[in-house]
Amino acid sequence: MTPASRFGKRPDLIVHEQEPFNAETPRAALADADVTALDAFYVRNHGAVPELDPETWRLRVGGLVDRELELSLAALRNGRFPVREVTATLQCAGNRRAGLIAVADIPGEAPWGPGATGNAVWRGVALADVVAAAGPRAEASEVAFVGADEAEGPEPAQPFGASIPLRKALRPEVLLAWEMNGEPLAAVHGAPLRGIVPGFVGARSVKWLERIELRDAPFDGWFQDVAYRLLAPGQEAGPGAGMALGEVALNADVLVPADGADVPAGWVELRGHAFAGGERRVTRVDVSVDGGRSWRQADLQEDLGRWALRRWRADVELPAGEHEVVVRAWDSAAATQPEDPAHLWNPKGYVNNAWGRVRLHARA
Ligand code: MTE
Repeated sequence: MTPASRFGKRPDLIVHEQEPFNAETPRAALADADVTALDAFYVRNHGAVPELDPETWRLRVGGLVDRELELSLAALRNGRFPVREVTATLQCAGNRRAGLIAVADIPGEAPWGPGATGNAVWRGVALADVVAAAGPRAEASEVAFVGADEAEGPEPAQPFGASIPLRKALRPEVLLAWEMNGEPLAAVHGAPLRGIVPGFVGARSVKWLERIELRDAPFDGWFQDVAYRLLAPGQEAGPGAGMALGEVALNADVLVPADGADVPAGWVELRGHAFAGGERRVTRVDVSVDGGRSWRQADLQEDLGRWALRRWRADVELPAGEHEVVVRAWDSAAATQPEDPAHLWNPKGYVNNAWGRVRLHARA
């Protein structure tokens, strides 16, 4: 049995690593549905998937709080905290790294395409309600999440962890979730409970959550302090080096037809997605068939709210021959994406939000 089938995933997922299991969603699956099917949703793991017993599992809340809490899954679900649902996109900071590797090699990092992105309906309780029950002290400024997995990378190994600013943690969209697309959260996605931090890079949505800690500074674990940081070219990774990756940057890509596809000359339907990140929304998507000299606006598909990606479609006329089709999105800050990934290259290969690009061959 392959890890993909063991974790209930479709065989056409693009597997970057079998163990720990890391796999991205095929472009067509993202183009075909607003809500990503569970068997197609990408997986980003830093260690083996822990098998936690939901009966004995407990969530501990501590640090700068007036009352430490220890909560069972039943206690979280039994009505003390109102149940909430949020449609939100998870996107990994390494999404579209392949486009940066094409500029210059990035040893030791997987060549993720645009499928380190997924959109789901998450159900659980608001982190804010649990934090309020613990009573944050005045000095608290960050809320850290610590998972149960022993993650690879740091020496010695340590559980995966991350923190978010308290002001974000108190927002109603930040969930402690036990359900994804109406199904119980799968082990590979963090069962029995995970954090969901809409608008922030996927690394802040900690899976297999065991501990929540209120702090007066960002989490100092390896994954936040060393790993998920944007370094300048030539800069060495190290504690606190570079910029922490928090809010997702505006991005868009063409999903169908695939890069390198053969299409009949004439009208061709392009489909793709765009995601604004942070608290921004996608406001416009443009496509160009002449390398960005002229643009036409794509049709935006259903608006699933501030925290969700937006699919788009456009018809373009392609005479027989070779074409490079590009896409760029605009957001509610009236900002758009940079043209060229060469100017975005960084040593760990994060945040490639250059124009999406596919080469198409139109046959007569
Ligand atoms: N949480 C734990 N405990 N361990 C991990 O390896 N990976 C993070 C985040 N939460 C991770 C984690 C990263 S980098 C991403 S992009 C998302 O989970 C991916 O979530 P998914 O695998 O459910 O798609």
